[in-house]
Amino acid sequence: MTVAVLLLLGLGLLEAEGRCFFNRTQEHCVCYNLSQESLGSIIQCLSASVVEFRGGELERYVALPSRDLDPSAIEMLGSLVIRKIIFGDLLVPEILLARVLRFFSYTQVQELAFESCIFKGRGNWDEMAGQHLPVLSLHFHNVTSAPLTGREQDFSILSSWLETLQELAVTGSHVTSLPCSIGRVFRALRSLDVAQNSLGDESLTPAFCKGAFPQLRVLSLQRNNLTSYHSVCESVQLLPELQHLDLSQNKLMADPSSSCQWPVSLRIFNLSDTGLDEVLTPLPPSLEVLDMSCNHLCAVDISLSSLKKLFLSQNMLQAAPSIRNYPMLDTLHLDNNLITELSWDEVKLLGHVQATGNPYNCSCSGAGGLQELAGMGHLVQGWPQDYTCHSPPQYQGRLVKDVPVSVLQCNSAVVIAPVCIALALLGMAGAVCLVRSRPRLVRPCRRV
Ligand SMILES: *[C@@H]1O[C@H](CO)[C@@H](O)[C@H](O)[C@H]1NC(C)=O
Ligand SMILES: *[C@@H]1O[C@H](CO)[C@@H](O)[C@H](O)[C@H]1NC(C)=O
Ligand SMILES: *[C@@H]1O[C@H](CO)[C@@H](O)[C@H](O)[C@H]1NC(C)=O
Ligand SMILES: *[C@@H]1O[C@H](CO)[C@@H](O)[C@H](O)[C@H]1NC(C)=O
Ligand SMILES: *[C@@H]1O[C@H](CO)[C@@H](O)[C@H](O)[C@H]1NC(C)=O
Repeated sequence: MTVAVLLLLGLGLLEAEGRCFFNRTQEHCVCYNLSQESLGSIIQCLSASVVEFRGGELERYVALPSRDLDPSAIEMLGSLVIRKIIFGDLLVPEILLARVLRFFSYTQVQELAFESCIFKGRGNWDEMAGQHLPVLSLHFHNVTSAPLTGREQDFSILSSWLETLQELAVTGSHVTSLPCSIGRVFRALRSLDVAQNSLGDESLTPAFCKGAFPQLRVLSLQRNNLTSYHSVCESVQLLPELQHLDLSQNKLMADPSSSCQWPVSLRIFNLSDTGLDEVLTPLPPSLEVLDMSCNHLCAVDISLSSLKKLFLSQNMLQAAPSIRNYPMLDTLHLDNNLITELSWDEVKLLGHVQATGNPYNCSCSGAGGLQELAGMGHLVQGWPQDYTCHSPPQYQGRLVKDVPVSVLQCNSAVVIAPVCIALALLGMAGAVCLVRSRPRLVRPCRRV
C-alpha cells in the first residue's frame, strides 16, 4: 500500500496543505495540493476509478532517485482499480514524467489526462524504450510544452506504447503544426481531437501525410484557423478509415470548383458555425449525419441518399428542404430560421422534427399542420412553448397551439372535396338512371 501511495504522491505530492475528497457514487477522488501531512487522505482514493490531482508544482521531486520497484510493490500497483488519472493546474518537469511514466506499465490505468499543466524542460525518455503501457487514451487540454517539432527521437523511443494508443486529444494548447513523423507513430489511433488550436490550412497536409494515423476514425479540427474547404479535403484524403470529421467553428470559404473527393468512409460531418452562405460541394457521398447549423444558409438544395440526421438550426432558411432528397432521413432540426410554414405532409414522415423559434404564419393551414405534427408526437422539443405565430396580425405572438383551427373555417379543401364527391355521385346516379331508361343508346362492351 505504501508504495502505491508513494507513487501517487510522487506524481501529486505538493507543498501546501491539502486533502482528497472521494465521491463514492462517482468513484471519483479529487486531491488538492497534497502534502506529506495530509498523506493519509490519499488512501481513500485507492478504491476510486478516477483520481484527480489538482494544484501545485512538482519541481522539487526532480531529484527523486530513480529506482526499480520490488515485486510486492509491483503486485500492489497491479491490484489498484484506478482506471483514469487526471493532473490539473500543475507544473510538470518532463524529467520526472519520463521517470514515473514507466511505473504505469504495472497498473491498469487506461486514461491519462493533463489539464492546465505546464511541461517544463526536456526529459530523457530512454528508460521508456520498448515499454508497453496499458494507457489507451491520452488527453492534454490547455497545456504548454516545448515545441513538438524536432522531437522525433522522443516519439520513436516511446513508440512501443504510442503505437497502441487509441485516443489522443491535444486541445486548447496553441498547436500550430503536427509533424508528419508523429502521425506515423500513432498506428492504432482511432480518435484525434485537436480542437481549439491554431492549425492552419497549410499545416494539415504534413500532419496527415502518407502513412500517418492509418486507423483514424474520428478527427476533430473544431475551432482552429482553417479557411479552405478544398485544402482540408485534400489533406484528409489519405485517411482511409475516417468516419467522423468536425470542422465546426472555423471560417470556411467556398472554393470555386473543388474536385477533391472526401474519403468515402465519412459518415458524420460537422460544418456548424463555419460562416457558410451556401452549401459547400462536393459533400461526402455516404453521409449519415450532417450538421450545418449556425450558418447563413438561405436554401439547402442537395440530395444525400444515406442521410439520417440533418441539423440546420440557426440559419436563414425560408422553407424546409425537400425531404424527398433524403430518403433515409429520420431527424431534422430547423430551429431559429425564417420558416413561415412547414409542409407537414412531408415532415410527418420523419421521426424527430425540431423547428422552434420560426416566424410561423398561423393562417389556418400553417397552424393546423403544426398542431397535427405535435399531436402525432413528431415535434420532440419545445412544443408548445417555443412555437409562436408571427402572422397574421390577429395571432402575432400567440402560441401556435392556441390558434383555433376549425375544419370548416380553415381548410377549404376539406369542405369542398366532399361536396364535389357528392355532386359527382349525384351526377353518376343521374347518368345511370338515364342509361337505364334509355338502354339502346349504350353500346355493349366489345369482347376481344
Ligand atoms: C457525488 O456526485 C454526485 C453526482 O455528481 C453528486 O450528486 C453527489 O452530491 C456527490 N457526492 C458528494 C459527497 O460530493
Ligand atoms: C490554462 O492554463 C494556465 C496555466 O498553464 C492557467 O493559468 C489558465 O487559467 C488556464 N486557462 C483555462 C481557461 O483553464
Ligand atoms: C490564421 O491564418 C491567417 C492566414 O492564414 C494568419 O494570418 C493568422 O496569423 C493565423 N492565426 C493564427 C492564430 O495562427
Ligand atoms: C457540431 O459541433 C458543435 C460544436 O462546434 C456541437 O455543438 C454539435 O453538437 C456538433 N454536431 C454534431 C452532430 O455532433
Ligand atoms: C399566410 O398564409 C396565408 C394563407 O396561406 C397567406 O394568404 C398570407 O399571405 C400569408 N402571410 C404571410 C405573412 O406570409
